Amino acid sequence: MSQPATTGVPVLALEGVNKSFGAVRALRDVSLELFAGEAHALAGENGAGKSTLIKTLAGVHRPDSGRVLLDGEPVVFHGPAGARDVGIAVIYQEPTLFPDLSIAENIFMGRQPRRALGRIDHKAVRTSTAALMARLGVELDPDRPARGLSIADQQIVEIAKALSFDARVLIMDEPTAALTGSETARLFSVVETLRAEGAAVLFISHRLEEIFELCQRVTVLRDGRWVASEPLAGLTQDDLVRRMVGRDLAELYPKQDSRVGETALSVRRLTREGVFRDVSFDVRRGEIVALAGLVGAGRTEVAQAVFGVDRADAGEVRVGGSALRPGSPTAA
Ligand SMILES: Nc1ncnc2c1ncn2[C@@H]1O[C@H](COP(=O)(O)OP(=O)(O)OP(=O)(O)O)[C@@H](O)[C@H]1O
Ligand SMILES: [Mg+2]
Repeated sequence: MSQPATTGVPVLALEGVNKSFGAVRALRDVSLELFAGEAHALAGENGAGKSTLIKTLAGVHRPDSGRVLLDGEPVVFHGPAGARDVGIAVIYQEPTLFPDLSIAENIFMGRQPRRALGRIDHKAVRTSTAALMARLGVELDPDRPARGLSIADQQIVEIAKALSFDARVLIMDEPTAALTGSETARLFSVVETLRAEGAAVLFISHRLEEIFELCQRVTVLRDGRWVASEPLAGLTQDDLVRRMVGRDLAELYPKQDSRVGETALSVRRLTREGVFRDVSFDVRRGEIVALAGLVGAGRTEVAQAVFGVDRADAGEVRVGGSALRPGSPTAA
C-alpha cells in the first residue's frame, strides 16, 4: 500500500486540545493531524481518551481549550450536524438507523429529491442509493427496510449516507467490535475504496492486527496525553503496545523473583505399560512445572501415577527426599 503524503495542510487537525469531565482530564494538550488519503489509527488503552478525541472532532464535545482546524482554518462545530455539514462523518459501533424506513430513505432522510408539486421522487432516491452502493462495491437493496439489517450492513448504510454528504473525513470508533471476520474484510475494502478516492480515515480498534492491516499511520494516547504519531511501517505490535502502556512488556509481566529451592518432588523413569514410559522430572520448591503434551499424550495419566491414584509399573517418586509407597494418594 502506498504511503500517503503527510505533509502540507491536514484536512482536519486538533491543536493543543484539553477536555475535562469534572475531575477527569480526558484530553490534555492533544494534537493530531489527519491528511487526505490516509487511514490513521488512534490507539490507547481503555480510558486513554480515544472516544473523547473523536467526539471532539465530530462536534459532540467542545474543547475546553485548544483548537480544531479544518483545512488549516480554526472551526467551531455547533453540534454533530455542524461537523457533518463540512464533510466529517462518524460511524459508531452500533449505528442508529430508523428501522421502519428503507435503506434509501434512511440515506436521504429529510433531503429527498422532489418532483414537481413537491412530491418525493422515490425513483431518484432509489437510483442514487444504488449508485452509492455500487461505488462502495456492496450489494444492498435500496428498498429493504433498515429493520433486520445486520450491524455490518447498517454501518455500510451509514457510510453510504456519509458519501451522499460528500464526506471527506470518515471517523470510525471501534466499528469492527461486533463484526465477523468476513464483515470486517468487507468494511475494510469499502474504507480502502474511499481512502483511495482521497478521503481521510480515523480508525479506532483494540485489535492491533486490524490497525496494521488498514492504516498507514498511528497516533497513540495514554492517560489523555499524546504519546506518538508515526508511520506503522517499521513498527511491530510490541512497539505499539509499549507506546500504549508506557513500559516494556517485560516490565508489564515481570519475571517473578522466585527463589527456586531444593527438590520437592522427584520422578524417575516412571512407567505404566502401554500408557507412558520412562518419565522423569524434578519439581523444586517455588517452581511451577508445566506438563505439556497433546491430548492423549499421557499427561493426566502421569499426574495420576505421581500422586498415587494409579499404580505405576516401574520407576520411583520421591517427595522431599523420601520414596513414596506406590498406590497411596494419602501418602502423596
Ligand atoms: N461524558 C463523560 N463524562 C464523564 N467522564 C467521561 C465522559 N466521557 C469520557 N469520560 C472519561 O474520560 C476518560 C476517557 O474516556 P474515553 O471514552 O475517551 O476513553 P477511550 O480511550 O475511548 O476508552 P475505551 O477504549 O474504553 O473506549 C475516561 O476516564 C472516561 O471515564
Ligand atoms: Mg472509546
